[in-house]
Amino acid sequence: MTTIRFKKFNIEAYKPGKSSIKKFKRVIKLSANESALGMSPKIKNIVSNKHLNFFRYPDGKTKTLRSKISEKFKCDKDRIICGAGSDEVIQMICQLFLKPKDEVIVPQFSFLMYRIYAKIVGAKIVFAKEKKFKISISEIIKKVSKKTKIVFLANPNNPTGTYLTKKELIELRKKLKKNILLVVDDAYAEYMENDDYKSGLELFKNKGNVFILRTFSKIYGLASLRVGWGYGSKKIIDGLNIIKPPFNISDIAQKAAIESLTDSKFIMRSIKHNTIYATKLKFFLNKYDITSNNISANFLLLNFAKCKLNAKFFFKKLKMKGIILRSTEDGYKLKNMLRLTIGSKSENLKFMQAVESIFKK
Ligand SMILES: Cc1ncc(COP(=O)(O)O)c(C=O)c1O
Repeated sequence: MTTIRFKKFNIEAYKPGKSSIKKFKRVIKLSANESALGMSPKIKNIVSNKHLNFFRYPDGKTKTLRSKISEKFKCDKDRIICGAGSDEVIQMICQLFLKPKDEVIVPQFSFLMYRIYAKIVGAKIVFAKEKKFKISISEIIKKVSKKTKIVFLANPNNPTGTYLTKKELIELRKKLKKNILLVVDDAYAEYMENDDYKSGLELFKNKGNVFILRTFSKIYGLASLRVGWGYGSKKIIDGLNIIKPPFNISDIAQKAAIESLTDSKFIMRSIKHNTIYATKLKFFLNKYDITSNNISANFLLLNFAKCKLNAKFFFKKLKMKGIILRSTEDGYKLKNMLRLTIGSKSENLKFMQAVESIFKK
């Protein structure tokens, strides 16, 4: 067979949090930071709508969805671009801005897709060290060169769960050269109840050199439907619209996302649930000397440095009980740690029972 030569990338493909275990029909999946309460019950009406039709192309301009987003988040619909997950928006940003040898700064421990998409278009990835697993402004500034084009960060950050305060984020934008695009990924913003926090969208709505990422995959519970959005200057959005795949979000996904925006009660319930169980789990794990970040998003980064068991052993033992956490060695290169997504009430209880039995032995 003849194989036509293709480009070689020095990239490790993204490995998502695992979702199945051999021999288990049903597992407790706490590995991908999905919504603990599932999706709003209102979405069920969309899916069961008899008039649902799949033979038409969806609205490639996502007009209604953008208009509903703009109402909800008090922003300009013409400065929104929707993607198949915020993932696709990250990809488009890299395609639009980066050429080979441009430099992109990412925090050492950060969402992997920034580096993957940037590398695919030939950019050089420059890692900025973190301090105690928190993004460091001074380390980012140290890494700036004439070639720096974009700084990517998630706030709160995945996988560390730490965050930059409102003051720190503003300081970072001030200290960065004006011609560097700061991308602030607000994927977990809705979960944040911390007084010193403000989302990228709230802080930088009117900044031409900041681009914001948002997603329906986390608190809105629509990870499988793939809907995310970006917010930036009109010029950037116009540029992105030229390269955007024409029909990137299915009709049903657009409708479900629109519906999810109307259920504020579901969002409030999700935030409350998250804060209660994140706090419970943090204190519960502390008893076993498994430490974690302060409560922020819908996950905890578990540190086993002081624990009598190591992360790998703990991961394996849980897996044998049908519970999956996220290995942070794959891709993130964080040793002796694991990422735990806050689950539903029954998932969290089963997780805690499993932990108790692991430590009893
Ligand atoms: C920080 C961050 N940004 C973006 C994403 C991707 O989300 P989406 O499902 O919208 O592509 C994730 C997913 O885990 C994430 O953690």
